[in-house]
Amino acid sequence: MAKRALITGITGQDGAYLAQYLLSKGYEVHGAVRRSSHGGVADHRLEWLGIREQVRLHDANMLDLASLIRLVQEVRPDEFYNLAAQSFVATSWNQPILTGQITAIGVSHALEAIRIAKPDTRFYQASSSEMYGLIQQPVQSEDTPFYPRSPYAVAKLYGHWITVNYRESFGMHASSGILFNHESPLRGREFVTRKVTDGVARIKLGLADELRLGNIDAKRDWGHARDYVKAMWLMLQQDAADDYVVATGTTTTVRDMCAIAFEHVGLDIEEHLVIDPEFFRPAEVDVLLGDPSKARRVLGWEPETSLGAMIREMVDADMTRLSQPSPPPAISMPL
Ligand code: GDD
Repeated sequence: MAKRALITGITGQDGAYLAQYLLSKGYEVHGAVRRSSHGGVADHRLEWLGIREQVRLHDANMLDLASLIRLVQEVRPDEFYNLAAQSFVATSWNQPILTGQITAIGVSHALEAIRIAKPDTRFYQASSSEMYGLIQQPVQSEDTPFYPRSPYAVAKLYGHWITVNYRESFGMHASSGILFNHESPLRGREFVTRKVTDGVARIKLGLADELRLGNIDAKRDWGHARDYVKAMWLMLQQDAADDYVVATGTTTTVRDMCAIAFEHVGLDIEEHLVIDPEFFRPAEVDVLLGDPSKARRVLGWEPETSLGAMIREMVDADMTRLSQPSPPPAISMPL
């Protein structure tokens, strides 16, 4: 019989790529989606990957424990991937309580639903390198102490530790993947890589003439989401649950990442990049650099896509999107 997977956050970047990967492995894939009054389900990423008709979507909400219990009872998943979150760091200062409710307490809801309805379900928690924040070691591994720097990171830290706690308290097969930044053409346009690739494509096509960014000295360890979802799956195939850093092991400034995008379309970065204080954050994570050696050793996982190849893929995808008859509007909210 086909294994069944349940994914929260299935309409997001990672949810869509994970669904595609699990389908390719013969899984029956179910997703939890939150209803909203303005238009239907935000399933354009599933459409983009051509898998919308192959996944089964269910109405549920991370804030509603009963909806998650019912969902686990109904789907009876072998594997539960908790990817739902308020995941944009900048917004977490404007909506700190909602961020805590979804990104922190939502994890408790997911774990409780499993504990009550089907305790042998294997659980994956999407933890984040943002938890390292004000880094305590130059290269961050599973043993590096955390120092969160945003309401988002504080909430993720709760999600991480409650996952560890349920594993230790109830013997649940609950793993936490500490994923460093991972991007793709399906990334939301509020995150810096996609903001850059979308912005560069607009400039190239004559739809804009500048790109406004905040702290371009920040450094991130960027990988491709398509590679990173494979690590999630591998974690749940191990006999014992555990925690793993998923990263490339190289770090790059926002400025240098941006330069790759401009260079790809033959534009001069100096002519178009504008530094705008509006995009600076109240507290910054200056640098992140992960050590993925445990994931490599235990899971046999390797990142396959370089930053350069990924940024070029993203610029090309944005050029194609924007060349279509009715391109999406420019970002109107301050991101
Ligand atoms: N978004 C954004 N917009 N970021 C900018 C901008 C801008 O205009 N200008 C500079 N930056 C800098 C941010 O200050 C930050 O240092 C860096 O670019 C990356 O920002 P994001 O792409 O928004 O990602 P993030 O690192 O804050 O968080 C992402 O990665 C985490 C994993 O480390 C998110 O995906 C989180 O959900 C994820 O947990």
